[in-house]
Formats: sequence, structure tokens, C-alpha cells
Amino acid sequence: MRVLVIGGGAREHAICKAVHESNGQLYAFMKNLNPGIKKLAKDFYIHNETDAQKVLEYALKNKIELAIIGPEAPEEAGVTNVLEENGIMVASPTKEAAEIETSKEFMRNLMEKYRIKGSVKCKAFSDVEMAREFIEMLDGEVAIKPIGLTGGKGVKVAGDHFKSIEEAVKYAKEVIEKGIGGYNRVLIEEKVVGEEFTIQAFCDGETIFPMPAVQDHKRLLPDDKGPNTGGMGSYSHKSGILPFMTFDDYEEAATILQKIIEALKKEKRMYKGVIYGQFMLTADGVKVIEINARFGDPEAMNVLPLLKTNFIDICVAMVEGKLNNMKISFDNKSTVCKYVVPEGYGINPIAGKEIKVNEEAIKREGGLLFYASVNEKNGNIYTTTSRSLAIVGIADEIDEAEKICEKCLKYVEGKHIFIRHDIGKRELIEKRIRHMEKLRG
Ligand code: AMP
Ligand code: GLY
Repeated sequence: MRVLVIGGGAREHAICKAVHESNGQLYAFMKNLNPGIKKLAKDFYIHNETDAQKVLEYALKNKIELAIIGPEAPEEAGVTNVLEENGIMVASPTKEAAEIETSKEFMRNLMEKYRIKGSVKCKAFSDVEMAREFIEMLDGEVAIKPIGLTGGKGVKVAGDHFKSIEEAVKYAKEVIEKGIGGYNRVLIEEKVVGEEFTIQAFCDGETIFPMPAVQDHKRLLPDDKGPNTGGMGSYSHKSGILPFMTFDDYEEAATILQKIIEALKKEKRMYKGVIYGQFMLTADGVKVIEINARFGDPEAMNVLPLLKTNFIDICVAMVEGKLNNMKISFDNKSTVCKYVVPEGYGINPIAGKEIKVNEEAIKREGGLLFYASVNEKNGNIYTTTSRSLAIVGIADEIDEAEKICEKCLKYVEGKHIFIRHDIGKRELIEKRIRHMEKLRG
């Protein structure tokens, strides 16, 4: 089958690898030249991924049968809609269905309307004084969120990013007045405390098939300090759940995703593609932090390499509403993924620096390499302002996977790169277990 993948990050490299391993003929449409995707693809086109007409032109020219969209921005721009209108199967949601991610207000309203468990106290405002009243009512224990897309970098949380009601109001005002995230509006949520986890699920509009749980690390610096980023690395466990949670917690989260899909269907926004739930496990059960309309980045790199079923078959089943007929399985292995990012990432990134990657040595050590936002010029690889590449280690236990990952990272050299080495290490995981035990009494 002729398959088009849209997007040029590490998540898309992982998607492309899955397509390639499922015997697909791969075509790629991306804004940067990802060297990993370039190697796998029969052909590629470098252009702005939100230009739906250009994507359509390229897809028609190459007789594409199935398209998969990696990032959220092309979904918001209606790339799915345009391709579908022209008879191409798309294993990613339409613009309307993707609003579950592209408007945080829509997501919270949907959960409220259909009385789906797991939401938090929240309200959206266009007026700063009204926002202030709500922040005061919650004693300043809030998360402040732009309504629309900010690449995971627009959310600020009490205690982590601001210390007082005044600072909270100041940021809410900034979001409203500057229109951060594309709306002159801000969402204020009650701050919840616990351990975060991700569940991604295949979805055909009615049925979901949840994948192994993953824990991402959004904060830039070791020990979860510093600003939020797109995600610095992640791990998963062979059991399908994480060391600090139970199978009941997993089921609770998966049920929330199923209910959201059913609600979207009732709203005539049939959801087809991968859906992503970011959850917080609290003393009071599972709470929804955000819903995304795609694979997670890095989380795709934890689950896709473990997939034993033909990925293209799953994509077609999602489009055709036949997920129920599929037998989907994953290898029972643990994974650790760590990102290499440019120094200053998320604050003041140093871009355009060369990094040397010894692909052969990484392969020899048993790790997987996924390129992200780098550019290839004359056979050399240069950083951009975004994440550069990721390494994934796979083994029976998290410890072993982490060691493989670290061994491989030695073969990525550059003067201006940064890595969160604590991800997947026993110390950090035990801290999470103790945190959850304390919260649950
Ligand atoms: P989001 O982009 O919505 O996933 O938010 C980024 C990060 O902010 C999340 O991964 C959480 O760590 C944190 N966060 C978001 N919403 C809340 C909330 N209601 N309570 C506590 N932390 C939150
Ligand atoms: N890992 C966070 C995201 O993909 O949004």
C-alpha cells in the first residue's frame, strides 16, 4: 500500500518505521529534512505541513491510498478533511474531531456535558477580573492554560511556575491580551496533585484499543525542575502499566477515553485515529490533564517498536470501523526513551550546531535511533531550536532498557546538546512510587 506520513519529528520517524516494517511504500511530507525518514521513504517533499492543498497535490501525484498525520497542527488545518474529500483514507481525525486537542475548552465542556468522570474544576474566561475571582476562589491552586495549541509550552502551574495569586492573574492576563494559543481567552483549572501517565489508544470511531501506559517527562531539567517542554523522555513497563499504578487505574483511564469517543460520536465528530490521554493519578482517582488527537511525542517511540501486529492493517481497520475484528498485540518488554535537545531548549535554544551520530554503534548496542527536528546538509546533521533526536532502549526490565539507552547516547556527540539522564533511572521511579504511596495513604 502507498502510505503518506505527514510530519518530520521523532514520533513521525517511529510511525514511518512502523509503516516500512508493515511492508508499506512510504512517502513523507515534512517541514524539515528528517534523515531517518529520508532513508526509509520512496519519496519525500519538504514544505509547511499545514498547507492542506499542497499535501493533497503531493498525495494525488503519488497515488497515495492511506495517510497518517503525526502532529496536531495539520489536523487543525483540515488536512484530514481535504484528503478524505478526495477519496484518500486517513488514519487521523478530522479538524472537527481533533478539537478534542485543539481547544482545551471544548474538551472540558464535552466531559461536563456527557458527565464523564475524571474532569477537574475549571472555567474559561475572556475577562481578566472574572478570571481573578475564579483564581481567588481556588486559593491560587490552579493551572493556567491557553485554550489552543502551544506545543506543550503554554501551561503554567501553581507552585511550579508561579507562587502567588497575583502572579497567576498576571499570566492569565498575558494569555488573554496576547492571545497566546490563538484565542483571547484563558482556561483556569484546579491544580491536581499526583503522578502523570499517558495512555494512547487506536480508535475507529466507536471502539478503542488501548496501548501500554507510558510516563513522559515534560519538565526540562532533572528531578522535574524547570519549564514545561514538548517532553524530554519517557518509559514503559513490560506489564503494560507503570510501577506506581494498578490495573484498575489503567482501566479507569481507558474507560474515560472510550466515553470521550462515544461523546464525540454523539456530537457528530466521529473520531478515527490514535487518541492520547494525559492523566494524573491522584488520591481521588484518575483525572484528565489533556487529550491529544494523535500519538504522543515521545510516547509513540515507547509503544510502536513493541507492536507485533501489522501497523498498516490497524490503520485501515481504524478508517473502516473494524477495530473489533483485529487481534492487536505488543511485545511484553520495557522501554526507556531519552531525547537529545539543543542546549537552552525551551528557553533560548542554540540552533544550527553540528551533532555527530554513530548510527552503526547505536545499532550494535541494541538501541533504536529516531531523528527529530534536525536538518541534514551535505551529509552532516545540524540542530534546530526543537528536539534533535531520541534513543530508545528495549529490554525485559526498565533498568536494563535504561542502560542500553545510556550506552547508545555515548554515540551522539555535540558541544551544545542537553539530555535528561535521570529518566528511567531507578531513583526517579522509586520517588514516583513513594509519592503515590504517600498520596494514597
Ligand atoms: P498540558 O499541556 O495541558 O498537558 O499541561 C502541561 C503540564 O502541566 C502537564 O503535563 C501537567 O504536568 C501540568 N498540568 C496541566 N494541568 C494541570 C492541572 N490541572 N493540575 C496540575 N498540573 C497540571
Ligand atoms: N508527550 C506529550 C505530547 O505528545 O503532547
